[in-house]
Amino acid sequence: MKIKEIQDEILRLKKEKDICILAHSYQAHEILEVADFTGDSYALSKLAATVPNKTVIMCGVRFMAETVKMLSPEKKVILSCPWAGCPMAEQMDKELIEGVKPQFEGYTVVAYINTTAELKTVCDVCVTSSSAVKIVKAIENNNILFIPDCNLGAFVAAQVPEKNIRFLQGGCPVHAAVTKAHAENAKALHPDAELLVHPECRPAVAQMADYIGSTSGIMEYAKKSDSKEFIIGTENSIAEHLQYECPDKKFYPLSKELICPNMKATTLMDVLGCVRGEHGEEIVMSDELIAKARKCIDKMIELGG
Ligand code: 13P
Ligand code: SF4
Repeated sequence: MKIKEIQDEILRLKKEKDICILAHSYQAHEILEVADFTGDSYALSKLAATVPNKTVIMCGVRFMAETVKMLSPEKKVILSCPWAGCPMAEQMDKELIEGVKPQFEGYTVVAYINTTAELKTVCDVCVTSSSAVKIVKAIENNNILFIPDCNLGAFVAAQVPEKNIRFLQGGCPVHAAVTKAHAENAKALHPDAELLVHPECRPAVAQMADYIGSTSGIMEYAKKSDSKEFIIGTENSIAEHLQYECPDKKFYPLSKELICPNMKATTLMDVLGCVRGEHGEEIVMSDELIAKARKCIDKMIELGG
């Protein structure tokens, strides 16, 4: 089957079966083309609660499908590729956070949405990369324990200096692998390019950037900017999508290693298998887990607007 034929079959079946396809911006171009909605984690979380369809296929990683399920427990939620997890989300568990809490008495525990549902049950509020600064500012408490990404935490702390923000040592292995040397090399090769990076990058890299933001933030910035060249400091799919959308501009990956194998795990054939009902994993969570874990997602939406 050719790509166009697979896509047409996906579009036909999703209409027939009342299925909504959500795809994170890191997904491949041919998957974004069949999705009903694409975007960063924050946009997708907010959408999850509003889509009318009975079934949602999440093309992304496990914590994203769990978020959809928590916000729409009555829906059938399918993770497009069952082994697509986020290594950062697996770094800290509920027991670890319960264990450190006595050292942070009186602190509000802020969890990046890249965490498991289980861990969210012992946190106070979630954030995403695009909403973290706004939400941390809006929290009444001045003492914040920010988990698990200390790079995103450092970015937030720099924007909200009035608060006492403490971290644990976690982070995204894909973004954290980018070094200052990568940024220096890329800038030397492309002196006229603007450097746009995700806040999951190390502070030494982020400090060199012209813009720091979420996947959608980077895309919007690049589209609106008058500059003609950009070095993209996030998963390389973003440079590729931008090149499709803005053929008159040039996009260079900050590092050829900026590839998330989990985000790249879903193929168009997986999506076809999901709409046929033959593939993917249905997310199953107990009512108790949903009730406890979604409190901090609801709080995120309340404070993030
Ligand atoms: P966004 O919140 O920017 O979509 O990022 C999600 C993610 O996993 C980045 O690595
Ligand atoms: Fe997780 Fe990093 Fe992949 Fe994002 S890029 S899904 S944070 S491992």
